Amino acid sequence: MIVDALGRRFRNLRVSLTAACNYACTYCVPNGKRLQAATHELDAEEMVRAVQLLMDAAGIDRLRITGGEPMLTPKFDTFLPAVMKLGLKDVSVTTNGQFVLRKLDTLLDSGLRRINVSLDTLDADRFRSIARSGDLATVLGGLEAVKDAGLKVKVNMVPMRTANADQILPMLDYCLERGFELRFIELMQMGHLKTSQAFQRDFIGMADILEAIGEHYEFSRTDAPYDSTAVRYEIPGAGTFGIIANESEPFCSACTRLRLSSNGHLYGCLSSAASHDMKPVLALPEHHALASLQSILMRALGDKQRNTFTGEVTVMKFIGG
Ligand code: 5AD
Repeated sequence: MIVDALGRRFRNLRVSLTAACNYACTYCVPNGKRLQAATHELDAEEMVRAVQLLMDAAGIDRLRITGGEPMLTPKFDTFLPAVMKLGLKDVSVTTNGQFVLRKLDTLLDSGLRRINVSLDTLDADRFRSIARSGDLATVLGGLEAVKDAGLKVKVNMVPMRTANADQILPMLDYCLERGFELRFIELMQMGHLKTSQAFQRDFIGMADILEAIGEHYEFSRTDAPYDSTAVRYEIPGAGTFGIIANESEPFCSACTRLRLSSNGHLYGCLSSAASHDMKPVLALPEHHALASLQSILMRALGDKQRNTFTGEVTVMKFIGG
């Protein structure tokens, strides 16, 4: 097992199935232009092999399927059922929810138990100004359908001062009513936000989120697993919510995440543009592949920051958070 000086190892893998997205969210792209698929993206079979190799070489046991928007590519329909058979402890899909209804049979047939849906507002106009595409009612319909089908749902919301700060409570009420766990993600200095004024203008920290919630609810902090990114809170009798406080309470020192981009590059840290091409490894026979992966994984683990999340200009949008 590869472990670093802080005791960190890779356990959680996030696979970006495609860099393409049907949204153009303001925090992701500056110009309203949707992201396109990367050149030379891996096919579904190569991605499944990559996951299997990373399970064997690194001890990965949890997988998040992401993008771009993972349901945008036909690869999703073969990748999901195949990885569900690999014996991972936990698999989830992060999606903007736009295709959830259409993919419901694929989701259910695969045996998937839970899903993470990104949703920043319940207001249709605001939705359009943040996502610059898509349709709120479609996402809400998808959420009802996955709930009725018995999937566990987490909802990701990125609160932003000038865009959706007033949605913190309505979103929480909406999620509590339905048994969804809402996770507020502090705005990260990724991509254009690393250098633009928009980050300073729009950032809302954990303290302010809690203050807004505290006006209506009593809550207490609960224990979260060692390598959880979210700080979790319980509202007695009503449910739970979480805050991914990358700025206020960075979790780098316990980070176990490894990311695979759609074109086969491994990233050891969301705050680092360093990547390690895994494609040549996929062509090797099993034992050579595993040996070669060991040295790649050592380097990828070395890319992790010690403690503070600093953001990065190029990654995130195509490796899915
Ligand atoms: N800051 C915070 N969250 C972000 N996401 C995408 N870009 C950013 C950013 N700059 C979120 C998406 C999605 C999750 C994977 O990451 O909204 O829910």
